[in-house]
Amino acid sequence: MTRAEQIAANLAEVRARIAAAARAAGRPPESVRLLAVSKKMPADDVRAAIVAGQRAFGENYAQELRDKSALLAEGPALPTPPEWHFIGPLQANKVKYVAGKVALLHSLGSPALLDAIEARGAPQACLVQVNVAGEASKSGLAPADLPALLDRFAALKHARCEGLMLIPPRGDARPHFAALRALRDKEAAITRPNVDLRELSMGMTEDLEVAVAEGATIVRVGTAIFGPRPT
Ligand SMILES: Cc1ncc(COP(=O)(O)O)c(C=O)c1O
Repeated sequence: MTRAEQIAANLAEVRARIAAAARAAGRPPESVRLLAVSKKMPADDVRAAIVAGQRAFGENYAQELRDKSALLAEGPALPTPPEWHFIGPLQANKVKYVAGKVALLHSLGSPALLDAIEARGAPQACLVQVNVAGEASKSGLAPADLPALLDRFAALKHARCEGLMLIPPRGDARPHFAALRALRDKEAAITRPNVDLRELSMGMTEDLEVAVAEGATIVRVGTAIFGPRPT
């Protein structure tokens, strides 16, 4: 099997897992989008996934995203252009590589970052990354700070909020997924300009079924599609 064939087979398997989990949860399979996490994987892997019908790709590093998207745009024509998402921690000095350039930024975790994104002056859909478990080592906003960050969108012209994102701690992720959904449901009951909390970005290779059962609308899957990442 070639590398491209392997990626296509892996993608088919992941799509089948998502569909089965959605059906088990009484949800239509199309209510869950697959984000292929291509972090540390070469542009040729992304190309193979696109040829196999994958549309959305998640990157964690601003410069890697810039370089990989340029390589793909310059290379042979693709059946469909990739839709890039940014899912990694973002420093203010790297915002220029990302804001206005990705379909969705999953990792908005502070008012300062929101201001830096808005200052680029280009439309940008964002998800707020919430540190539901309050882990000191993880980025993301404390749940108590979420209402104020959502309120902040009202005064903005370019950035808008489309939902919440979570990276759970190691161990049983289910209570964290459930907590993110509960937080979303609570905040979604409040109408705010430029805020529509329709997306829940949660679930990875190991726990996508649990995330779908708890209401994920986007699952971010790397290893099950591309194999182990180089270190
Ligand atoms: C934010 C984020 N989501 C999802 C993934 C994909 O994880 P996995 O390879 O376990 O599917 C990664 C991988 O590093 C990640 O950083």
